[in-house]
Amino acid sequence: MNVTRELFDEVMVPNYNPAAMIPVRGLGSRVWDQDNNEYIDFAGGIAVNVLGHCHPNLVAALKEQGDKLWHLSNVFTNEPALRLAKKLVDATFAERVYFANSGGEANEAALKLARRWALEHHGEHKNQIIAFKQGFHGRTFFTVTVGGQPAYSDGFGPKPGAIDHAVYNDLDSLKALISDNTCAVMMEPLQGEGGIISPTADFVKGVRELCDQHNALLIFDEVQSGVGRTGDLYAYMGLGVTPDILSTAKALGGGFPIGAMLTTKDIAASLKVGTHGSTYGGNPLACAVAEAAFDTVNTPEVLGGVSRKEQLFRQGLEAINQKYQVFSEVRGKGLLLGAVLTEKYQGRSRDFLVAATQQKLMCLVAGPNVVRFAPSLVVPDEDIQQGLARFERAVASIVNAE
Ligand SMILES: Cc1ncc(COP(=O)(O)O)c(C=O)c1O
Repeated sequence: MNVTRELFDEVMVPNYNPAAMIPVRGLGSRVWDQDNNEYIDFAGGIAVNVLGHCHPNLVAALKEQGDKLWHLSNVFTNEPALRLAKKLVDATFAERVYFANSGGEANEAALKLARRWALEHHGEHKNQIIAFKQGFHGRTFFTVTVGGQPAYSDGFGPKPGAIDHAVYNDLDSLKALISDNTCAVMMEPLQGEGGIISPTADFVKGVRELCDQHNALLIFDEVQSGVGRTGDLYAYMGLGVTPDILSTAKALGGGFPIGAMLTTKDIAASLKVGTHGSTYGGNPLACAVAEAAFDTVNTPEVLGGVSRKEQLFRQGLEAINQKYQVFSEVRGKGLLLGAVLTEKYQGRSRDFLVAATQQKLMCLVAGPNVVRFAPSLVVPDEDIQQGLARFERAVASIVNAE
């Protein structure tokens, strides 16, 4: 069969508009297309391929488990799921784990748990969920409504209710909304899709305090910021604020679909037998790969390398900016970085992404004004240098076309 980009338009639902080239294989931070063109990958499958492509530890785990047991359903438990859960519990604030297949599903579980916990402990009135404008939590109807971009949830009929949005980094706007009727506040400890926006230390601390004052649960969506991305295993560890519920996905499986919701023993007790579930969640194949990813990432070498590589990125982007003056700032933490376009280039982040792809570099956008980088945490220094050289050519192509 002749597989081309045109075939996509013939057979696929048109909710995506993928690039013209079709990648066929990857190794480390390099990817090759059908014509054997080689790309450097600073996108990481949208902050997923935390160890690059085909990392030997992950391939070995996949092959080993692939020969043993793939799936049974949650009628049975399995060894990889229990091992992974134990490691997550040992490494974080959490005492209990629920496995899902994606970030959206992990968040769906977090929100349902919060509502159920509030109902059980306080009553029906305590059902308000507060999240933040520009936040992103997934595409299920509940999570997309909790997300702070109404454009994503409009046009699908009546939305789930009792959901309000405060302004990120503005404690007063949260104060104005929160009350004893609030069951949970959900936030990303570093807004990803919304434009790579870090919270201030005072803001996160203040959110925690307000939740405590009103007996509301604090949910950290670490789907994008978790598993080493910021240099800490989870971003909350670098903020000094502990959530009650944490969702993790993306990098958790290093490229194999898996998500998880972490919480305390007391809160978890509200999801009793039969209250929630998933056919695939916690299947042995996903958990075996995630366990290998977790073991590999959760080491001083990998986590410690993140801030050093961040500096290489920042220095390289700074040098490009000195020549071309296209960014007003580079923000973010660890290897989740956003280059914010100046006034002159507002709304054109996608042009930079397209120009980068033409230079054989994969990167991302975070809204119309930010070019986002979320490479593998073990991207070799040489690939960072070469990738940034390609990015410079992409920037030059845009600036020189004026
Ligand atoms: C912070 C955050 N939460 C949730 C999601 C949704 O994850 P998934 O696409 O795996 O459902 C994303 C995806 O971009 C995300 O960045």
